[in-house]
Amino acid sequence: MISLDESKKQSLIEAAKTASDKAYSPYSKFKVGAALLTKNGNIFSACNVENASYSLTSCAERNAVFQAVSVGEKDYIAIAIYVDSLLSFPPCGACRQVLVEFAHDMTVYIVNKTTVVETTLAALLPDKFTLHNE
Ligand code: THU
Repeated sequence: MISLDESKKQSLIEAAKTASDKAYSPYSKFKVGAALLTKNGNIFSACNVENASYSLTSCAERNAVFQAVSVGEKDYIAIAIYVDSLLSFPPCGACRQVLVEFAHDMTVYIVNKTTVVETTLAALLPDKFTLHNE
């Protein structure tokens, strides 16, 4: 795990928070923003996007990963996930699995209105399914 310096960490959290403002979540009313920091120092941020056909909903974390991969960025250092709530919400299992496809381990900041919990992808998904030899 790479520990970010305080200002990088705050920028990442701010980017996740800003992205959550764009959430399209008329069904759940749950606003999520994710900001992914790549090894090149770039940040890709995204929100959750829901659909009237509920199962087509796409989580903020996966939307951020897909944006990054689409421009060739596949090495990740950290992700901040902001939920506009007083409760703490770690990433769903599907998003953990998508992240682990690209990041053996990375720092994960789980952020809400009042708290920041720092953890790692390895801690969140200890028994990962991957075809990469490690
Ligand atoms: N959601 C995310 O964006 N990320 C997660 O890790 C869990 C859930 C979204 C999907 C849906 O729009 C809303 O939160 C409620 O499930």
